[in-house]
Amino acid sequence: MGQYNGDSHQRDEEEVYDLICVGFGPASLAIAIAIHEMLPESSTRPKILFLERQQQFVWHSGMLLPGSKMQISFMKDLATLRNPCSEFTFVNYLKVQDRLLGFINLGTFLPLREEYNDYMQWCASKFNDVVSYGETVKLVEPVVAQGSEKVNRFIVHSQVGGIEERRLAKHVVVAVGGRPLLPKPLPSYHPRIVHSSQYSSRVPQTLSDFNGAYRIAVVGAGQSAAEVFSDVSSKYPNSKTTLFIRGDALKPSDDSPFVNEIFNPSATDKFFQTSPQERQAQLVENRATNYSVVRLELIERIYHDLYVQRLRDPSGSSWRLNIQSHTEITGLNDATSDKQVSLRMSHRENGVHTIENHEFDLVIVATGYARDMHKELLAPTKVLLDDPTAERFPVGRDYKVQFGEGKVGAEAGIYLQGCNEMTHGLSDTLLSVLAVRAGEVVDSIFKPTANGHTNGHTNGHATTVQAKKVEPYSNGVRNGSGVSSNRYPH
Ligand SMILES: Cc1cc2nc3c(=O)[nH]c(=O)nc-3n(C[C@H](O)[C@H](O)[C@H](O)COP(=O)(O)OP(=O)(O)OC[C@H]3O[C@@H](n4cnc5c(N)ncnc54)[C@H](O)[C@@H]3O)c2cc1C
Ligand SMILES: NC(=O)c1ccc[n+]([C@@H]2O[C@H](COP(=O)([O-])OP(=O)(O)OC[C@H]3O[C@@H](n4cnc5c(N)ncnc54)[C@H](OP(=O)(O)O)[C@@H]3O)[C@@H](O)[C@H]2O)c1
Repeated sequence: MGQYNGDSHQRDEEEVYDLICVGFGPASLAIAIAIHEMLPESSTRPKILFLERQQQFVWHSGMLLPGSKMQISFMKDLATLRNPCSEFTFVNYLKVQDRLLGFINLGTFLPLREEYNDYMQWCASKFNDVVSYGETVKLVEPVVAQGSEKVNRFIVHSQVGGIEERRLAKHVVVAVGGRPLLPKPLPSYHPRIVHSSQYSSRVPQTLSDFNGAYRIAVVGAGQSAAEVFSDVSSKYPNSKTTLFIRGDALKPSDDSPFVNEIFNPSATDKFFQTSPQERQAQLVENRATNYSVVRLELIERIYHDLYVQRLRDPSGSSWRLNIQSHTEITGLNDATSDKQVSLRMSHRENGVHTIENHEFDLVIVATGYARDMHKELLAPTKVLLDDPTAERFPVGRDYKVQFGEGKVGAEAGIYLQGCNEMTHGLSDTLLSVLAVRAGEVVDSIFKPTANGHTNGHTNGHATTVQAKKVEPYSNGVRNGSGVSSNRYPH
């Protein structure tokens, strides 16, 4: 059996999904919509399931801050760029909600994040039959059916309500988004340290008195940090809030039209075709479109608030808002307890380096995300790569993981979404190309091949295969029945 030494075998007569998507965020939702629109309505609809660890569809719930706006035109919704006639466009959503004219009168391309979340929840609600919420995927394992030389199925191991699930799929899409990144000197959990991704849920629990005179630190210079800095200071008007940034100032994001063309779907082709060195250079050159930058209006609002403080108190002694630049966290001091965080900070300015110690009731770190969760989930498949020690899972232009020659059958595969910035460009982690990208993935999985049958599915009914006897799985394993229906909605 090739070089694959995995010891998982397939159960007799086990149901096989044509596709399981891990994570049901915007990327997978766009795929659900694309499948709904691109595959003909007939009995040959594939057997598909989306597994989502949250209890419902919600988009970055910890950062749904009052008044926060989208960073992208509503025209780049989950469908329009692939199919402007789709029923899943943002415009159709507005029409159904009876807000189309009201939205037009706003004269904006940038809806509130709150409204865009509602739009996506509205789209997601149409797919309830094929989503299992509250289910966390733990591992994806390759498997070889009896009589086959190649891997032709994957076992998706998950957990739901303390019970283990496992399901077989020919194709797996991994679209799990980012993992919160904390500065290295900080512990992975402390009751008084909160990552921006949990801002809305954890901060009111931790600081329960909105009139309290708390000492609050916000760390970071990106959009999350600026939004949190602005929001927390208005929620706790008697508190002192300091924004610590490593650079010298908050800088604006570049969304000017020529530069913005890097987010066109066609730019993905160009980016993919260039050399790794050139790609890296382009990522660096265009970094200010997305990372460590803030929308100009918000910068101006924050600057205005700081200015008003200076007007009212030139001494600075009563200022509630401060920005301290050129500062980095280097460690936690012993004075740290369950009730406060004592930060050791390195401050470098004008050639002078000082070490400072500051105590806070709450530290909010808005220090970004890593997009590497797929590596853990797919660890058992690494042996199928040409170079199993490689840092990255290589993907093709169609987002399909490129396993070693002859290791995986043509009718099976794994696709990665949202973690391919190095090969597919800066749009990869964003909403920009989701509609088009979803169509590309659906084409790659389900498009008829030259010999007339599809890669992705056989007959649309619960697919069964004759396979080798298996080792028994651990106790408590429930087998693939988490949702009421696993047919695709019509
Ligand atoms: C606060 C914030 C605002 C943003 N605003 C914009 C914007 O305006 N415009 C823009 O283009 N981009 C924006 N982004 C970038 C963001 O990455 C995209 O908007 C979008 O969320 C990407 O969708 P996704 O499906 O790839 O990832 P996610 O939205 O992160 O969705 C991944 C899903 O997978 C689930 N999941 C993770 N692990 C597992 C597992 N093991 N098992 C089961 N489920 C799992 C998660 O719960 C989540 O629902 C924003 C990001 C943040 C943090
Ligand atoms: N309303 C919205 O639409 C909205 C809101 C929030 C976020 N977003 C999106 O979400 C994505 C992520 O944005 P983000 O702001 O969360 O992350 P980000 O852009 O990656 O910014 C992270 C910030 O944290 C800083 N940082 C990282 N490690 C640090 C450390 N060890 N010590 C001190 N500072 C550190 C970085 O500093 P340096 O600058 O020094 O590197 C950077 O300023 C972006 O796509 C953004 O557009 C959108």
